[in-house]
Amino acid sequence: MSIICVIGTGYVGLVTGTCFADLGNQVTCVDIIPEKIEGLKQGILPIYEPGLEELVERNVHAGRLHFTTSYKEGLDNCDFVFIAVNTPTGSSHGRADMHYVESAARGIGQELDHNAIIVNKSTVPVGSGDVVKRIILNNLERRDVSFAVVSNPEFLREGSAVQDFLNPDRVVLGSSDSEAANKVATLYLPLRAPMVITDLYTAEMIKYASNAFLATKISFINEIAQICERLGADAKEVAAGMGYDKRIGRAFLDAGLGYGGSCFPKDVRALAHMAAEAGLHPQLLHAVMDINQDQRRLVVSKLSSMLGSLRGCTIGVLGLAFKPNTDDMREAPSVDIIRWVSSQGAMVRAYDPVARKTAQEALEREGIRLDTITFCEDAYEVAHGADALVIVTEWNEFKSLNMPQIHSAMRRPILIDGRNIYEAEEMNRLGFTYRAMGRSTGPALTVLPSGDTSLPQQQTLLREGDSK
Ligand SMILES: NC(=O)c1ccc[n+]([C@@H]2O[C@H](COP(=O)([O-])OP(=O)(O)OC[C@H]3O[C@@H](n4cnc5c(N)ncnc54)[C@H](O)[C@@H]3O)[C@@H](O)[C@H]2O)c1
Repeated sequence: MSIICVIGTGYVGLVTGTCFADLGNQVTCVDIIPEKIEGLKQGILPIYEPGLEELVERNVHAGRLHFTTSYKEGLDNCDFVFIAVNTPTGSSHGRADMHYVESAARGIGQELDHNAIIVNKSTVPVGSGDVVKRIILNNLERRDVSFAVVSNPEFLREGSAVQDFLNPDRVVLGSSDSEAANKVATLYLPLRAPMVITDLYTAEMIKYASNAFLATKISFINEIAQICERLGADAKEVAAGMGYDKRIGRAFLDAGLGYGGSCFPKDVRALAHMAAEAGLHPQLLHAVMDINQDQRRLVVSKLSSMLGSLRGCTIGVLGLAFKPNTDDMREAPSVDIIRWVSSQGAMVRAYDPVARKTAQEALEREGIRLDTITFCEDAYEVAHGADALVIVTEWNEFKSLNMPQIHSAMRRPILIDGRNIYEAEEMNRLGFTYRAMGRSTGPALTVLPSGDTSLPQQQTLLREGDSK
């Protein structure tokens, strides 16, 4: 049993602290937001993460998991201090904003009164472990205290964070103090995962390289999807055909609206920035980012190509969170899509199973007028009177919708399947004008049903990819 302090109780900190407590350790989680800590003390979680609530409750009840805003209380007698604070994109050119990590390091330095190992779980630019070490040293009141810094990047995915933490593909540890790294390794022994123990800089780089590679896979298949759409191939089947090749693998080859969330966008940007600062020109990373942004625009251009002007149209948005099983709205494609259609004069009807509150906050933060958006209770309410429906997040509950009911609720049955959930043949049979991402979607010439005189005139449409 070890005594662990976790600084930051967000997706990574709360999951890390709770799982270590579940493995039998004594854990205290520290955060600077008093409401978060108050809520956690009452069993109210600040985030939606499957399975986490029960795990928190069990470990609080067992007396192994505690929450506080006090560094002094959190650090009391601890063997390990995990830093798991946010590292968002800073103001200049994609650089990671380190001020939360720096402030955590200051807090540790000011309150640490015994020897301990500092473990950095935040995703930080290469070399940051040294910065953390320097800040702690500069703030240490007690000169007899010694400590080591170990990098231990986290690879969990939101939506399956608890499972991922407890069943990692690998644990990465990096430090100039190999004894300290080995001590951190003992915390993970119950998980029976492969361990990569290396130097500090390499461990920090492994995290960026991993995220950049996964983002590259997504942008790669999205570029292939655009080519497929032009040439009449089916990107979903291309991905399946590629994925059986063990050298390639099927994961992260889903054409769609691209990546979002709190990690891939900022981490690819930060890595590109690090490379540029080192005098390099990271062409591939820039292409990955450009393609990703284009995928979001593609949806709006599909809408415009089918509806003409969006002014006066009602666009239904299914799914707001950046991916299913989370309420995280950071860099969610829905925000860009809603911003662009709203700016063209469309009204939006939107629904997400869990992210309504976080979505409202995110949209407001982005300066998007909420009075142009109706938040609905389910997908059928979204479809009511809509001129087009866009599937943005592939929540399970969107995968088997009663499509005839959706069809009859819509003013115009245009379906843009941003996640390739449905099959074109079936959707065309039901009378939808269906568009997907990188897939052949039905008759080359589609005539939209006329009816509402307030809408653009009846149009003859070309399928994306057909030469005009
Ligand atoms: N979210 C993920 O899926 C994920 C996965 C792997 C790695 N990471 C990395 O882990 C880090 C944390 O990410 P997250 O998503 O958990 O962030 P988050 O924003 O959900 O949580 C960060 C928490 O840290 C707190 N905090 C900030 N400064 C603090 C300070 N000085 N002292 C105490 N608490 C402080 C915030 O109040 C917040 O509760 C980031 O570097 C991220 O890149 C995230």
